[in-house]
Amino acid sequence: MESGQPSRTAGSAARYRAAHQILEHGAIFADPLAVRILGVPADELLADAPRRAMRLFIAARTRFAEDALAGAVAGGCRRLVVLGAGLDTFGYRNPYPDLAVVEVDHPDTQAWKRRRLAEAGIAVPESLTYVGVDFERESLADRLRLDGPAFFVWLGVVPYLTRQGFDETLGFVAGRPGNEVVFDGQQVPESLGAEARGAHRVGAGVAAVRPAPPVHPDAATAPRAARCRREWIEHGCVHARQRYWSAAGGRAHRTVAI
Ligand SMILES: C[S@@+](CC[C@H](N)C(=O)[O-])C[C@H]1O[C@@H](n2cnc3c(N)ncnc32)[C@H](O)[C@@H]1O
Repeated sequence: MESGQPSRTAGSAARYRAAHQILEHGAIFADPLAVRILGVPADELLADAPRRAMRLFIAARTRFAEDALAGAVAGGCRRLVVLGAGLDTFGYRNPYPDLAVVEVDHPDTQAWKRRRLAEAGIAVPESLTYVGVDFERESLADRLRLDGPAFFVWLGVVPYLTRQGFDETLGFVAGRPGNEVVFDGQQVPESLGAEARGAHRVGAGVAAVRPAPPVHPDAATAPRAARCRREWIEHGCVHARQRYWSAAGGRAHRTVAI
């Protein structure tokens, strides 16, 4: 993040999702607002064809998150928190009448998103609220008040945080029984199993983590976060490969993450 500027990577992630709608017709992740919120003409997105591996990964991680959310909602979840939301569009096409959505993001990115929404004519539903937070300078606990357990989606943010920013945020999420989180991040080869280490190129993984209740408030600290981080890596890679790549004719072992 550059001071006073919206996240450039939020624009890139949104562009991958938009291009996926045009180039793969949303085969992994269908998002009717992806092109509109970006504001780039569809024919320009055709030029993104060569960046297929990353595009499929971005589509898969978002699909993974929304599938996991669907399961949580079926289980009674009534709150979604999108951490580092960027141009994510879930809150504007939320199909669950009882699900409240909070978008948390850096204030500069959030201001830009709200301008883009207005320009694109995308309405902000009453179920959606915004909270501006800089994860590196502010505590999520101070800024985000929740009156019950929530499902957190935290995509494309971890690689940009310091270890402290990561641990604090995951500690907050893990600190309340009933919370769940889906997040992704860069992998270090030593943390991967033999199959993953043998891959041509290691990209990123995505996973769901459900802190096991009961969680004592004192347990929401770095060691717990570190344990979660180790657990999600292999788990998430296998899920992404099994569930989504075949939908786009992808060969995961050659392209992304596995
Ligand atoms: C790669 S974008 C991902 C956006 C969105 N989650 C997606 O998948 O399209 C990274 C997001 O992290 C946010 N971010 C990065 N550093 C941050 C920080 N220190 N505090 C709050 N948000 C931050 C950016 O504003 C941006 O929205």
